[in-house]
Parts: sequence; structure tokens; C-alpha cells
Amino acid sequence: MQLLLIAHDPSNNTRTLAEAVLAGAESVAAQGLTVRHVRPLKACADDVLSSDAVILGTPENLGYMSGALKDFFDRSYYGLLDHTDALPFAFYVRAGQDGTGTRRAIESICGGLKWNLAQPPVICRGEWQDAFLDQCRELGATMAAGLEAGVL
Ligand SMILES: Cc1cc2nc3c(=O)[nH]c(=O)nc-3n(C[C@H](O)[C@H](O)[C@H](O)COP(=O)(O)O)c2cc1C
Repeated sequence: MQLLLIAHDPSNNTRTLAEAVLAGAESVAAQGLTVRHVRPLKACADDVLSSDAVILGTPENLGYMSGALKDFFDRSYYGLLDHTDALPFAFYVRAGQDGTGTRRAIESICGGLKWNLAQPPVICRGEWQDAFLDQCRELGATMAAGLEAGVL
């Protein structure tokens, strides 16, 4: 089984969020589960097609997901449509002020793909807090544990 993280991490803080998701997932992953991070500018439909669940991560810029994550969807959408129905996914957003526009956009695109939101979105809003790392670690751990237990 494979859990895929597609996260844009252009700053120190967003890098540590992605690392926290990976660490959380790896903390519960047994031998049968591989956890991979592919950055969105490098990710393609095949990465998702070979995965059993996906976690998306992005900063919010100008009221929307990062251009990098949007580029991934632009290039991959039709390669995924009708081939990834009910794929379990989760996401986190690092938002300096808001996060609403990014949340709405991700839910809309992934809804179009008929993916299943497996966990409530983690919106890391406002001034940086180390608690964001705990939330992201838990997101990774919960997704990995759910996959391994066959409940996603
Ligand atoms: C050009 C630009 C636009 C931004 N637009 C938004 C925005 O619309 N909503 C928001 O919540 N934060 C916005 N931010 C703040 C970013 O979300 C934040 O800088 C980013 O997540 C990185 O956070 P970090 O400094 O903790 O790494 C913007 C930042 C930049 C540089």
C-alpha cells in the first residue's frame, strides 16, 4: 500500500509541516505501507494512480492554493477523472490569514474527481504555532493508520 503526500513547501514553516505529516505517517506505518512525498511541480497522474490515499498540502496565496498545486491538478485532472473514484484524501493549508478560498477550491476539485475526504481539513491559520506540527503529524498518522486498518 502507498500513501502519497503532494505538498508544496516553499518556506521553512511549510517544509516542517510536510515533514510532520511524513513523520506521523511513518510512525504508524508497518512494513506493508510506503509513504512518499512528491512535490506538486513533479507530481503527475501516475503518482496518484499508484497510491491508495493522498494527502495534499499547500500554503494559501492570494486566496487560493499555491500555483504549484494548481499546476498539478491542471496537468493531472483528466488523467485521474474516472480512474480514482472514492480515493481517500486529506489536506492541510498553511494560511497566514484565512484559508477559506483554498479549502473551497481543493474540496471543489477533489469533489469533481469524486475523491473521499477522509479527515477534516487542517487549516494552519494565523501566526505560526508549533501546534500546527502536532496537527499535521496527527493527520499523517491517522491517514496511515486508517489505510493499514482498511477503514478509509
Ligand atoms: C503573495 C502572498 C499572498 C498571500 N495571500 C494569502 C491569502 O490570501 N490568505 C492567507 O491566509 N494568507 C496569505 N498569504 C500568507 C501565506 O499563506 C503565508 O505566507 C504562507 O503560508 C507561508 O507561511 P509561513 O511564513 O509560516 O511559511 C500570502 C502570502 C504571500 C507572500
